[in-house]
Amino acid sequence: MKLLYYTATGNSLYVAKRIGGERLSIPNLLRRGKCTVEDDDAIGLVFPCYGYTFPRTVLDFLSAADLKSNYVFAISTYGAKDLAALSLMEKTASKFGISFDYINSISMVDNFIPRYSLESQIEALPSKGIEEHLDKIVADIKAKKRHAPSASFIEKRSTGKEQPSLTFPPDVDSRYEIRGCVKCRTCMKVCPRGNIDIFAEERYFHNCDFCMSCIHNCPSNAIHLPDEKSTARFRNEHVQLREIIESNNQL
Ligand SMILES: Cc1cc2nc3c(=O)[nH]c(=O)nc-3n(C[C@H](O)[C@H](O)[C@H](O)COP(=O)(O)O)c2cc1C
Repeated sequence: MKLLYYTATGNSLYVAKRIGGERLSIPNLLRRGKCTVEDDDAIGLVFPCYGYTFPRTVLDFLSAADLKSNYVFAISTYGAKDLAALSLMEKTASKFGISFDYINSISMVDNFIPRYSLESQIEALPSKGIEEHLDKIVADIKAKKRHAPSASFIEKRSTGKEQPSLTFPPDVDSRYEIRGCVKCRTCMKVCPRGNIDIFAEERYFHNCDFCMSCIHNCPSNAIHLPDEKSTARFRNEHVQLREIIESNNQL
């Protein structure tokens, strides 16, 4: 089995780890132009939900991908609400000739700090039953079960038809405020789009997914949003900074 994943703060990487198989990061595949992936057993995509859709980098990959397998699945991690994100993913992927045998989502910590404080998210964790839900997803995939998205009409209407690029424009990075940077370059290494150069006149190149990997993984907590709900930051407890760097490093 091959797991193709995208992660900023480790939730999706943790899910990929729990499913097992060989893990390949989507930013790395794109960078190397290796978008044809074959595996007789299964190929899975694991990625976060962004604004009821999914990251632009995942869209870029879908548009270039050729997935050859007897069983193809997709798992989205999200925080509070994903509405009809899975239906939108199914529809978008089908435009690129990709169809999923199994598609599902799992609620984890919401890392979207303009809306939620991490403190409130961590407090809500026990009620999410993440491990039980993951056990079920892992068993489903092992049994090669089929599962389609089941969004209601209202959820579909609220989700809209927007692609990620419209929800969060690539120059969303102009909102970032830097306070107390020690120039360790971690932000440059954890960015899945190679969108940062702290030594350049303008640090961000306006090619941003708004994944907030730079914000959450900064060892000095130097990157802020004017509307962040608190200054607390997050990385999934089962994932180390080194693994985020290995997944996203474009240097
Ligand atoms: C820009 C952005 C938008 C997000 N939008 C949503 C959303 O619409 N619904 C939701 O439930 N969670 C949303 N989230 C939360 C993430 O989907 C969630 O925390 C995810 O598990 C993070 O995955 P990662 O740790 O692999 O990066 C958003 C996060 C970011 C950074």
